[in-house]
Amino acid sequence: MRIKDEDISEVLINRDSIKKRIEQIANEINAKYESYDQELIVIGILNGSTIFHSDLVRELNIQINVDWICLSSYGSGTKSSGVVRVIKDLSIDVKDKRVLIVEDILDSGLTLSWLVKNLESRGVKSCEIVTLLRKKLLDENDSRVECRWVGFDIPNKFVVGFGLDYDNKYRNLPYVGVLDSKVYDGGLL
Ligand code: IMP
Ligand code: MG
Repeated sequence: MRIKDEDISEVLINRDSIKKRIEQIANEINAKYESYDQELIVIGILNGSTIFHSDLVRELNIQINVDWICLSSYGSGTKSSGVVRVIKDLSIDVKDKRVLIVEDILDSGLTLSWLVKNLESRGVKSCEIVTLLRKKLLDENDSRVECRWVGFDIPNKFVVGFGLDYDNKYRNLPYVGVLDSKVYDGGLL
């Protein structure tokens, strides 16, 4: 079954722009961590960050370990509820390690702030976040968790592609696009 062109109302960020931005961010990450003896643990949040994570790590020239955590905020569809559950935990013991969290999108920030606190309680040496996208808040007061690297600031629209899903679909689109509202009309948005 093919993805219908009309499901995407607008291509927000094309493949080329994403590639260039990932290279820039990777250069900054390389520069920040290259002087440390210890490897960097690059933690991807499943499933949304997989595409971004795999493109990003291929641009890194420092020693890294890759690990994954799968988290779910209760409820599905296009809104997160705030209660975070670990579906699959890390395999690596991160105590005294420098970690970098790789996320697809910062929306309310609940998932990431929960994870940062969780990793701190495991005794990490340092913890930074890189997110491909950051959604603009309607509220001017942005008290969301600090992301050291942000690929793109985007408007408050529901986006899919480059790992991001709606109902687990559209992750494989090679760009970030706005999902047409008719796809979720009568759905969960
Ligand atoms: P937060 O905890 O509200 O920041 O939600 C973060 C999670 O919600 C992300 O990891 C995404 O999986 C999902 N999410 C938030 N906004 C979007 C979107 O526009 N498209 C697809 N997924 C989204
Ligand atoms: Mg998701």
